[in-house]
Amino acid sequence: MCGITGYIGYRNAYPIIIKGLQRLEYRGYDSAGILLYNDNEDALISKTKGKVSDLEELMNSGISKEGNIGFGHTRWATHGVPNDVNSHPHTSNSGNLVIIHNGIIENYDSIKKELTKRGYTFKSDTDTEVLINLIEEVKKTNNCKLGKAIQIALNEVIGAYAITVFDKEKPDELVVARLGSPIAIGIGKENKEFFIASDASPFIEYTKNAIYLEDGEMAIIRKDKEIEIRKINDDSIITPEIQQLKMNLEQIEKGGYDHFMLKEIYEQPHAITDTYRGRLIANKGIIRMAGIDDNMEKFLNADRIIIVACGTSWHAGLVAEYLFEDLARIPVEVEYASEFRYRNPIINDNDVVIAISQSGETADTLAAIKLAKEKGAFVFGICNVVGSSIAREAHAGAYTHAGPEIGVASTKAFTTQITLLSLIALKLGKKKGNLSNAKYHNYLQELELIPKKVESLLAIDEKVKHIASVYKDATNCLYLGRGFNFPVALEGALKLKEISYIHAEGYPAAEMKHGPIALIDENMPIFVIATNKGHYEKVVSNIQEIKARKGKIIAIVTEGDTTVKEIADHIIEIPDTEEAFTPLLTTIPFQLLSYHIAVMLNRNVDQPRNLAKAVTVE
Ligand code: AGP
Repeated sequence: MCGITGYIGYRNAYPIIIKGLQRLEYRGYDSAGILLYNDNEDALISKTKGKVSDLEELMNSGISKEGNIGFGHTRWATHGVPNDVNSHPHTSNSGNLVIIHNGIIENYDSIKKELTKRGYTFKSDTDTEVLINLIEEVKKTNNCKLGKAIQIALNEVIGAYAITVFDKEKPDELVVARLGSPIAIGIGKENKEFFIASDASPFIEYTKNAIYLEDGEMAIIRKDKEIEIRKINDDSIITPEIQQLKMNLEQIEKGGYDHFMLKEIYEQPHAITDTYRGRLIANKGIIRMAGIDDNMEKFLNADRIIIVACGTSWHAGLVAEYLFEDLARIPVEVEYASEFRYRNPIINDNDVVIAISQSGETADTLAAIKLAKEKGAFVFGICNVVGSSIAREAHAGAYTHAGPEIGVASTKAFTTQITLLSLIALKLGKKKGNLSNAKYHNYLQELELIPKKVESLLAIDEKVKHIASVYKDATNCLYLGRGFNFPVALEGALKLKEISYIHAEGYPAAEMKHGPIALIDENMPIFVIATNKGHYEKVVSNIQEIKARKGKIIAIVTEGDTTVKEIADHIIEIPDTEEAFTPLLTTIPFQLLSYHIAVMLNRNVDQPRNLAKAVTVE
């Protein structure tokens, strides 16, 4: 949940590290710190509670920025409140070893007690300071080099980590290691420089060659030398696979938008097209997906599909439940990964588990698929981030190709996940003979039109902004939908909660009368999805029930609707489409609404409080 980045080479490390931290700030932003090593001035550590901009301000107060080795950290607190002392880097008692860490050391307490008995003292409340002192103790007692000490220490540790360690006694070397939290190493020209980061964004303008460490691997990185990678639990040497990065700089910059979230909302027509590009050939009735084609028997023989995910990805999973059951007639269960992994689930050899994750690093989702694999299930991963842990852990999978999503609130990740899941459901539905030729072709053509419809829908932005201005001071909101749009109601409420901090609940519209209806009065805005297919009349009745209790109704309807227009306080029209694809459209006004309310309330849209983009701790 934290961002780590580092540099070792011939350039000035400071600008690379600080820019890298800005790009990684989506991973955590409650404090930031940096270590710079300069041959003449020793190793300087600067750290502060707050954002990377606060760290920059601190650095501008006369602190030396010299040095061509260093690393930086942006924190999302796990152990210890966000303050200057708990910020990373952390130093060992001798002052020689310095560490930055992303993850959690679960047995830190027992290690701390043992180290305390041996005379170690601790300044911070963090598990990270315990780890660096454990490494120091191991190094001392075994009289070994840093790499060996880290290896021994990590074998005593339970938890998850991505770490980078510096030793003042060996200042031309950085040691990195990972278990459960990602680390990418960028390789500069002729091994003259190396970059370290939680994802490749900090070094994309310097090199396209990267190594992603696997779980249980560590790397010793030395100036001007070949990188040395080995396993943590034995001494085997690994020959690294160097990957060619496809990401470009433009994709990770705001490109004229005020916020990444707005940029990413507007990118959706493109992102959805990129998801089906090369996969959907509508005029020929073809859906081509290698991950599915190669494992077709597994899907066709599946007794059920179990979908595991968290947050917005879980909402996409709920949409998939409707898609798979309706189009392919395969029973589906959708599980919160965090619950699934701990409740001894019944999984059979004939179950297919689909894991959905934008980042591909969500700890609970990763653990859920490891469990499913152990129990014999076939695991299919749907991720956005190429080469991510979930993508690599799954037996097969497909990328959404949405491009980097940097705003903490997921937008294009959601619509591209639904697009991909629609392709899979249609492909399986056709193969299983559940869809007539005519219906199948119609679906394919309709899906191909979705990006254009999203594009035209984005033109409602001003209207949504006006609605946002009317309801921005609400303290509670209700989101209602039925069928395919029930998950969109959940997603709409989540978007509002996470970036505006307004309390919001999503409900299936008919459930309202079993409780939430008690909340309705003239101050309560209720956002209702009432598109023309599915359960339209039933939703209209629900709207009448709200009206009778004086609730404020903001309805999403299909273009040309007249019935709801008469009753609602505001309507937002979406283009007509197949019911199965309406979530791809109905979600757009909710994204824009949350965005505008958050901006009007002066919230930090891209980095809402307490959240992080990739939840790599459980
Ligand atoms: C969505 O807006 C949230 N930031 C969050 O719920 C997110 O979807 C969840 O943490 C899962 O992330 P993943 O898709 O990267 O696994």
